[in-house]
Amino acid sequence: MNHKDKKTRVVVIGVGAVGSTTAYTLLLRERMTELVLIDYNKQKAVGDALDMNHGLPFTGKTKVWAGDYEDCAEADIVIIAAGAAQKQGETRLDLLKKNVMIFDSIIENVTKYNQHGILLIASNPVDIMSYFSWKKSGFPKNRIIGSGTLLDSSRFKYLIGEKMNVDPRSIHAKIIGEHGDSEVPVWSLANFAGIPLTLSDEDKKQIFENTRDAAYQIIQAKGSTYYAIALALDRICTAILRDESAVLNVSTYIENYQGVSDVYIGVPCIVDQSGIREVVDITLTDEEKQNFQGSARKMKEQIEKINA
Ligand code: NAD
Ligand code: LAC
Repeated sequence: MNHKDKKTRVVVIGVGAVGSTTAYTLLLRERMTELVLIDYNKQKAVGDALDMNHGLPFTGKTKVWAGDYEDCAEADIVIIAAGAAQKQGETRLDLLKKNVMIFDSIIENVTKYNQHGILLIASNPVDIMSYFSWKKSGFPKNRIIGSGTLLDSSRFKYLIGEKMNVDPRSIHAKIIGEHGDSEVPVWSLANFAGIPLTLSDEDKKQIFENTRDAAYQIIQAKGSTYYAIALALDRICTAILRDESAVLNVSTYIENYQGVSDVYIGVPCIVDQSGIREVVDITLTDEEKQNFQGSARKMKEQIEKINA
């Protein structure tokens, strides 16, 4: 069956910069038949729904409305982009306390009405918010997905492509670990057309630093980031709704992976209609493995804070 023939519902909770841009991206690309917008600030959701509905004569047929938590009942995917965002000078981890409080009530409200869907987490710090959502919801781990390092990997591919003058879609390269300051570039597996990248150490250093610090640069320039994350969230939704079995670097729960257990963190995963079908085992150099383990330790310290 064509995915467009079936009724599919995506709910976006938190329609600020990230949530509304994601909703608009999904709408433009006709990913679902029903799109529900929920926000603590109901007027914002009502305004966004009206504005998007006025564009429907230019797009496909999608039902869009500002809803309530009851509307989660029939959702295939619930995207959560609610909560505080970084201000200039703040790290993602600085948002932890505020966003855990916000997620506490959101997850309770969603799970009151929906026990079968996939929760796609975008709010930061995304790895910790995903772990919290998994614990709080009681959902199986495959149905809680964090956007993880999919955005970072995309930034990484773009910057490598620019340097090498190759289309970024033809670059195979990944960032793993925290979506944040301790993330890890996997240079040992980066390639295009199966050929290892011929970049100098200085180029690699610069490309990685610009990848890791991209959000700081954008926040300094315009206050927040939302276009690329919207496309990354759209990519994950598409893999789920079309049952693609696509390999995406998202945040998932890992056990005995590169010597790490019991954290949500960005790693390559096969994503299909069940959510995370499996985590892909990769071979890292000793240094990459150590850095990944260091990133995971940092995530564990944060998890201990929310468990305390
Ligand atoms: P924003 O301030 O523009 O929007 C946040 C929205 O959440 C607001 O509309 C607000 O009313 C709503 N909200 C707050 N509490 C709520 C609640 N209890 N229930 C429902 N809605 C609620 O922020 P933003 O720039 O859209 O960022 C949102 C989150 O996404 C932040 O945590 C940010 O750090 C994160 N983010 C993540 C990535 C990523 O790669 N995962 C990328 C960019 C931003
Ligand atoms: C990003 C957000 C801020 O753009 O996490 O990386």
